[in-house]
Amino acid sequence: MDEREQGETKGGAAKTVDDRLSKPLELLNSMPPNRILLGAGPSDVDPRVLRVLSHPPVGHLDPSFLCVMDEVREMLRVVFQTRNKLTFPLSGTGSAGMEACLANAIEHGDKVMVFVNGYFGERMCEMVNRLGGELVRVDCEWGSGFDQDEMCRLIRRHSPKVVAAVHAETSTGVLQPLDKVYEAVRDVDALLVVDCVTSLGGVPVFTDDWGWDMAYSGTQKCIGCPPGLAPITFNDRAINRVKMRKRKPTSWYYDAVLISTYWGEDRAYHHTAPINMVYALREALRLLLEEGLQKRWQRHAQNGEALVAGIEAMGLKLLVQKEFRMPCLTAVCVPEGVNEAKVRNCLLSEFNIEIGAGLGALKGRIWRIGLMGYSSQRRNVLLLLSALGAALRMEGFNADVSSAISAASEVFAKYDKL
Ligand SMILES: Cc1ncc(COP(=O)(O)O)c(C=O)c1O
Repeated sequence: MDEREQGETKGGAAKTVDDRLSKPLELLNSMPPNRILLGAGPSDVDPRVLRVLSHPPVGHLDPSFLCVMDEVREMLRVVFQTRNKLTFPLSGTGSAGMEACLANAIEHGDKVMVFVNGYFGERMCEMVNRLGGELVRVDCEWGSGFDQDEMCRLIRRHSPKVVAAVHAETSTGVLQPLDKVYEAVRDVDALLVVDCVTSLGGVPVFTDDWGWDMAYSGTQKCIGCPPGLAPITFNDRAINRVKMRKRKPTSWYYDAVLISTYWGEDRAYHHTAPINMVYALREALRLLLEEGLQKRWQRHAQNGEALVAGIEAMGLKLLVQKEFRMPCLTAVCVPEGVNEAKVRNCLLSEFNIEIGAGLGALKGRIWRIGLMGYSSQRRNVLLLLSALGAALRMEGFNADVSSAISAASEVFAKYDKL
């Protein structure tokens, strides 16, 4: 490039910057669309939670904020069904929770067994590799789940240091029972790390009774808060293991023992907590416990059952067999000849409803319909069935909308009679 051209380029670039600066920033003044979020997350947020986000922030060591932190930790213990002292919301999304647990649990060269039946199990494997763990990967078909006896047999055979599994695989809608695996995990003196990003607050989770040593979640699914925090919990076995490491975890930010100096008794500065997100989480947890954990699980179960009844009555097929289905996320097979993306786009543009597409191996083959947290409401089930039916008919699929609505309503009526 000669000097003249360079000069022109520089001049051109400067002009563009001037242009940009002089343009009114219209986008900053506009409101985002008010969608109905029925995808794989985030889910809708109760207006009462949204309201507290606008409260003025205080300092992260302000006495009033320390009380908020205590309340959040206490409520998280109830939601996780644990007595674990180390229970708090990590700053970051669900993936940060995953990274923190694995980075604390795994030392270079450790054998790590990961049970993979979907996209998020794959992500765990990727992290294990980056952390220098010796990966023992056990796969089963996406859309299906593992037999716990078989899991235990494999754990005993390979004797890993860490076992990792996803409780609710959001990429497929599989709820993997994980209430027995700890027996084998303890036999080989391993740590059990569980992803409950999509299950916590939506379906039963019993961290202590099920022997989960480390578990992490995200705020944006069944907890009903915006994305941005990752509740985590470590039991004493896990903390002792972290303290006995030959080397400190490679991640400073996600060194759980270090962060717990802020979230624990010491209240020492570690990082500036996202104050307003913690306010929001406190409100979301308060609403969850006001409703009651059992009732919240029942609400998810009933709405999920009604959705499934409606989907099947409409003439559509489900990806996951009944025994492994989770109520908060339903994977629906795209019928032959129907354009998956067109149906999703129609729901968004005509009905303001977001649903999820397939991920990875299931891209183009399924839709993922989430009924999580505040989104898990009867009216959303009926709205979705009507809108999906209409969108499918526009695409030439003869969806039986009236049978779908009747089937879902029958499920609601069944529960109303109880
Ligand atoms: C099961 C599961 N694990 C991990 C994640 C990652 O969470 P995030 O996207 O909040 O980082 C997700 C997100 O959807 C998830 O569903």
